[in-house]
Amino acid sequence: MRPSSLQAFVLAAVFARAPTAYAWGAAGHEIVATIAQIHLPKPVLETVCDILNFGDSATSYSSSSSRSHSQAYPPCHLAPIAAWADQIRSKPQYRYTAPMHYINALDDLPADSCAFPGPQGWSGRPNQNVLSALGNVSHVLRGFAAGDQSVSAANEALRFFVHWVGDMHQPLHMSGREKGGNGARVAWNGRVTNLHSVWDGLLIAQSVRQTPRNYSSPLGGTAGAFVEPHLRGAIYDPYIRRIMHEGLSEGGRFHEDSPAWLDCPEPAFTASEQGSQEPLRPVVLGLTTPAGTEKKWDDATLCPYAWAKPIHALNCDLPVWPHELDQGGHQDAFAAEVHEHGHEHEYSIEEELADFDHVLGIHVESTRPPRHPELVELDTPEYAGKIADGWVVERLLAMAGVRLAGLLTDIFHDVSGEMPSKA
Ligand SMILES: *[C@@H]1O[C@H](CO)[C@@H](O)[C@H](O)[C@H]1NC(C)=O
Ligand SMILES: *[C@@H]1O[C@H](CO)[C@@H](O)[C@H](O)[C@H]1NC(C)=O
Repeated sequence: MRPSSLQAFVLAAVFARAPTAYAWGAAGHEIVATIAQIHLPKPVLETVCDILNFGDSATSYSSSSSRSHSQAYPPCHLAPIAAWADQIRSKPQYRYTAPMHYINALDDLPADSCAFPGPQGWSGRPNQNVLSALGNVSHVLRGFAAGDQSVSAANEALRFFVHWVGDMHQPLHMSGREKGGNGARVAWNGRVTNLHSVWDGLLIAQSVRQTPRNYSSPLGGTAGAFVEPHLRGAIYDPYIRRIMHEGLSEGGRFHEDSPAWLDCPEPAFTASEQGSQEPLRPVVLGLTTPAGTEKKWDDATLCPYAWAKPIHALNCDLPVWPHELDQGGHQDAFAAEVHEHGHEHEYSIEEELADFDHVLGIHVESTRPPRHPELVELDTPEYAGKIADGWVVERLLAMAGVRLAGLLTDIFHDVSGEMPSKA
């Protein structure tokens, strides 16, 4: 083994075994990618892995090394690339992708009024948002499947695609109010954080911790054969088993609904709803639509605008955006402070678990004096408890995973096992 490939091997092994080293924000994306992988037909996963493995060692792709792994199943995992788009977004060459993780309507003001979009349309530059960007990268992937795009272009597009399908299912990525809640300071179990981080990671962290112990061992039977090969020993594996067993499997709470998650309904938007910011054309970019024939924004198989609308509506309906944040008037001062200091501290899993043990072992929650009485506490039965009881986060993660699998299958089902010879 050459030193460079040994190094790559060691790094890959460390990455695969140490998901805990990454921020919780990554866990949501990795869970979505794993649920998608569980649902991919074997030939589709093999094609996807050929594309991803190409990116890992571009020069050795055509050598025998990649084919020598072909007996192993699965031939790769999607989870390790699921958070890549966040890791590179501040690099100069990828800075243009930063607005492509969210979409903001100008008139959106949850929890009282949710606009998707409102009369003034979307903020930001036309098509520089997550929903249009999904259309763009899916077009690159379809181009690869048709032999018109290089493997390296498909590799990059795939990494974005896996990530952005996840972002689209986080309700606060669909709202521009206070930077998607990044500027809305709240307390979580007595610590200062912000609303966006609660949804990116803390609710997921809590659900992972509260997963019943019977999911710590592998699932048996047909479900086990279906799920277990795709788990990597990550701390959220029991949570994925639970989402599969109690959610997506036969008799599970999503089993009846989930086939419809892939449906693209009639156009969700009419021309008058679009506002002036967005050009009137379908999201399926690259498919040039002659003027006057724009029947849909969304494609028949990928309809991010239609899919995102009810997810965005959760900001008002659940509400994801707590009404309490508009009471008391203390938020303005904090918003200014956050603006100055940028990102809030992100919890690591070690901190999260340490805090949890501490609370369990020593304190009774209700007798603890609040450490930030000026902030709205969200780790409460009324907020986090209601979300957990309703399986809201699990439903969004399952939905994102099922849709990602459906889309990748639609794009790659016709691609043969052989990679195109051009790179
Ligand atoms: C579309 O995707 C390609 C490749 O992923 C990228 O180079 C291009 O800038 C994207 N265009 C837009 C408008 O997002
Ligand atoms: C695990 O236990 C829960 C009850 O806490 C039960 O509903 C579920 O079916 C069990 N899961 C498995 C895989 O046995």
